[in-house]
Amino acid sequence: MTNRTPIIAGNWKMHNTLAESAALITALTKAGNKNKAEIIVAPSYTSLAEVAKLARGSEIQVASQDVHWEDKGAFTSAVSPVQAKDAGATITLIGHSERRSVFGDSDEILNKKVAAALRHGLKVIFCVGETLQEREENKTMQVIESQLKNGLANFTQEQLKGIVIAYEPVWAIGTGKTATPEQAQEVHAAIRAYLTGAYSEDFAQATRILYGGSVKDSNVDEIMAQPDVDGALVGGQSLIAEKFARIINFN
Ligand code: 13P
Repeated sequence: MTNRTPIIAGNWKMHNTLAESAALITALTKAGNKNKAEIIVAPSYTSLAEVAKLARGSEIQVASQDVHWEDKGAFTSAVSPVQAKDAGATITLIGHSERRSVFGDSDEILNKKVAAALRHGLKVIFCVGETLQEREENKTMQVIESQLKNGLANFTQEQLKGIVIAYEPVWAIGTGKTATPEQAQEVHAAIRAYLTGAYSEDFAQATRILYGGSVKDSNVDEIMAQPDVDGALVGGQSLIAEKFARIINFN
């Protein structure tokens, strides 16, 4: 890590009742932040407003797990960037692998979602990652470059300023199988090289790239020690206050 501010983000996915979310965010506001990291939690929509309210005045920022590409309309079950902001989100994840694989979000849809988020001033954490099969076929960077190229198509680097990239190898999500620190570093460096070519050296050096996929209190230190790893996007362990507190306060 160079002088980029680290980000530790928790994706709560489809977990937690309102009461559970309230208890978790309340505990996390007392977790400390010895690395002066940006701390982010992404609760499910039903908890978003409550978590944002309880996080107010703390260092924790609240993110939406996704947003629709329209501001409003007949899109049953979807949540627009306007609604996410209204509930207290300042950031949104876009392109999480579960959105891609379970809900069929294509690069084209994700590109529209990024546009919608940026239009409303939501910071974007754009997720990319390869499946196990793609990795075994040596297609990792080909897949990731195409996700970045198509998902972020038609934006200038000025528009994308502040975007965060999350590298989450699909085979490491929720499996307990973490990429080795070397595997993570290799892909993060390649993503940064891609950003240099596609935008500029300055843009690439300023852009935070997070690793996600079975990040735990027991492996966060070695992952964060990699020079191109600027943070972590955590699923399972972000639901356990003590574990996530330890991850926030990585060594
Ligand atoms: P796990 O940490 O549970 O593997 O989930 C990672 C993830 O998908 C975060 O967005």
